Parts: sequence; C-alpha cells; structure tokens
Amino acid sequence: MGNSDGENIRNSPLSLPKKMRPFQVGGQSGCAASGIGEASARLFVEHGAHVVITEIQDELGLQVVASIGTDMDNFRHCNVTDEKQVEETVAYAVKKYGTLDIMFSSVGTLHLCSVLDMDMTVFDKTMTVNARGSDLVVKHAARVMVAKKIRGSIICIASLEGILAGAASLAYVASKHAVVGIVKAAARELGVTLSTKHVAQAALLLASDESAYISGQNLAVDGGLSSILKLE
Ligand SMILES: NC(=O)c1ccc[n+]([C@@H]2O[C@H](COP(=O)([O-])OP(=O)(O)OC[C@H]3O[C@@H](n4cnc5c(N)ncnc54)[C@H](O)[C@@H]3O)[C@@H](O)[C@H]2O)c1
Repeated sequence: MGNSDGENIRNSPLSLPKKMRPFQVGGQSGCAASGIGEASARLFVEHGAHVVITEIQDELGLQVVASIGTDMDNFRHCNVTDEKQVEETVAYAVKKYGTLDIMFSSVGTLHLCSVLDMDMTVFDKTMTVNARGSDLVVKHAARVMVAKKIRGSIICIASLEGILAGAASLAYVASKHAVVGIVKAAARELGVTLSTKHVAQAALLLASDESAYISGQNLAVDGGLSSILKLE
C-alpha cells in the first residue's frame, strides 16, 4: 500500500546512494506522450546521479541533456535494437564514470491498429524495439554489473499492457508482456539474497512521497521468488 494521491505529509526520506551512475535509455517524447525518460533522468540528476542519456532522435536527446544541464557528451546516439550500439554505449558510461549502478530503459514504440488489419512489418518493429531492445539493454547492463560485482539496478518500463490487454494493439500488448518476461528471466539469474532490511527498505519506499502512484498493490518483496521458478 502506498500513499494516497495528493498526500504530502513529509519530505521523502529517499535518496540515491552517493555513487549512482545511471545509464538511461529513451529520452522524452517527440510527440504528445509523457516523456518518462526525460522526467526520470531529471529526477535522478536532482538526486545526485550522473546520467548518460540515449536516444535515436539526436536533436531531442541533446535538448534534454542541455535542459538538464549535464555535460553535453552525456548524450549518446543509441538505437537499442542494434547490439553493437548498446554495448558501446554501456562501455562509454563505464569508461566515463568507472561503474554502472543503474540501467533505466524507457524505450518504447506504439502503433494502434486492429488485429484484423495488422501489418506484420509493424508487428516486427514493435517487437524489435520493445522486446529485443529491452533484452539487449538488460543483457549488456547485467554483463557489466556481474563482471564488476556491482549490486546495481536494471529497470525496464513495461506497461499495464504487459499485465493485461487494454486499449493497445496486439503487437504492443505482446511486446510489453515480453518485457515483463525478459525482466523475470534476468531476475532468475541475477537475484539477491533476502534480508529483513530489504523489507524495511520496501516499506520506506511505500511510505515516501515518491510512491504516491503505487497504490493498491501487493508488493512482493521476495527477490523475484513469486515471479520465477528456479529449477536446480
Ligand atoms: N506514456 C504512457 O502513458 C505510457 C503508459 C504505459 C507505458 N509506457 C511506456 O513507457 C515508456 C516511455 O513512454 P513515453 O511516454 O515516455 O514515450 P516516449 O515516446 O516519449 O519515449 C520513448 C522514446 O523512445 C525512443 N525510441 C524509440 N525507438 C527507439 C530505439 N530503437 N532506440 C532508442 N530509442 C528509441 C523514442 O525516440 C522516444 O523518445 C515506453 O516504453 C512506453 O511504452 C508509457
């Protein structure tokens, strides 16, 4: 259970650890969408993080970096469907900051159409950007974190359409279910051992202002146990 909307009874006790070096995929919207990538990069920077921002729309990415006020070379062109570009961008962030503590991917593409008229080119593109892109981002962040023994965080933005089929097209629903599956499969290999502090930290998150829109959830603080089945 999180805060009810609009409640603001205390300042957030949450802050990022000192050495957070997130690598951010997906910038802000070029159309009328919400720009989750930009908002997240901005908030991370406000909390003391160094961010490397990536986009396929260079002008947009550079605008975001400029408006956030970090080094201009913290923008990297990266098409998440291209493995070489993802790998090189991760390497760039690690070289610049010596570590990679957070991978945040908000990349996504959406095209609305009926299943009856589905264009398979659009289906392939949606799966390639949303699913393959998330897979590559997770893979290369995880490789660095495992190699450098970093207890980092890999965050992929899915959608309500990753849980149910709402208003979006079949391709988007399928791709967002895939994103959820990718994260579960990665968690199966990369999980952590539970301690009481993890539960306390989850409670702290839910008690903070930052969790205002996390409401009515049954948050499983179980290192992924309820999402994955580990066969020995
Ligand atoms: N906005 C919403 O209401 C909403 C709701 C549920 C889920 N989401 C998901 O949240 C994420 C962010 O949404 P948003 O509203 O900020 O969208 P957005 O369109 O503003 O941002 C997505 C960004 O991804 C970039 N992108 C697209 N293809 C790319 C590629 N191949 N390589 C690199 N970058 C690429 C786009 O240029 C765009 O700037 C998406 O995954 C979206 O599906 C959004």
